[in-house]
Amino acid sequence: MELELASLPHKERYKLLIGLVIPRPIGWVSTWSENGVANCAPFSFFNCISEDPPLCILSFNLRSDGALKHTLKNIRRTGEYVVNLVDESTANAMHVSSYEVAETESEFSATGLTPVPAKIVKHPRIGEAAAAFECRIERSITFGPERELVIGEILLVHARDGIIDPVSKRISEELYRPIGRLFANRYCTTRQRFDLPGKLPG
Ligand SMILES: Cc1cc2nc3c(=O)[nH]c(=O)nc-3n(C[C@H](O)[C@H](O)[C@H](O)COP(=O)(O)O)c2cc1C
Repeated sequence: MELELASLPHKERYKLLIGLVIPRPIGWVSTWSENGVANCAPFSFFNCISEDPPLCILSFNLRSDGALKHTLKNIRRTGEYVVNLVDESTANAMHVSSYEVAETESEFSATGLTPVPAKIVKHPRIGEAAAAFECRIERSITFGPERELVIGEILLVHARDGIIDPVSKRISEELYRPIGRLFANRYCTTRQRFDLPGKLPG
């Protein structure tokens, strides 16, 4: 089968692409609104793309009423944000925090999450998250009226105790159990891991 994307309706392209590129990591972004409401929402057009400089990307479309997502509004206003990483213990709260709510309502209160002050940026991190990146916008690129890519510089990494070995900086496979997004309401764990033989370059 061959499908030329230009000939497909928007919705089918979306379904196809998010169904094929799986699993995707989830960037769970936390920010304050200008009125001091703690906001968080998940984004799976997310990845870490460089370590020098340390960069991650997020890509936003619009809310169902055509307005800017609150997260993007808060990021644009301040140039800063926190990307939290989602593990099995926070999966449900992450999913619920994706529901569209009014700007005056906090996804933190709705899910029982704790906003904890970040160290460098002015936004909160999610206290229950396995790990979090404090980020500052490096640049953002707009693709048409409905899609904006935000590239962030990662300034500081937080992690739940035990996840990062303080000396080797290795991540504990035992304690860090991230989940990935498949499509619609489907997710996966990272429980089945395997080695391939051979030497890695470098
Ligand atoms: C797992 C998951 C991944 C998502 N990924 C994206 C994404 O990459 N980009 C996007 O614009 N919306 C994405 N969404 C939808 C947003 O989370 C949703 O629109 C949310 O209500 C935005 O909240 P906000 O307006 O408070 O920013 C995703 C939803 C889920 C459940």
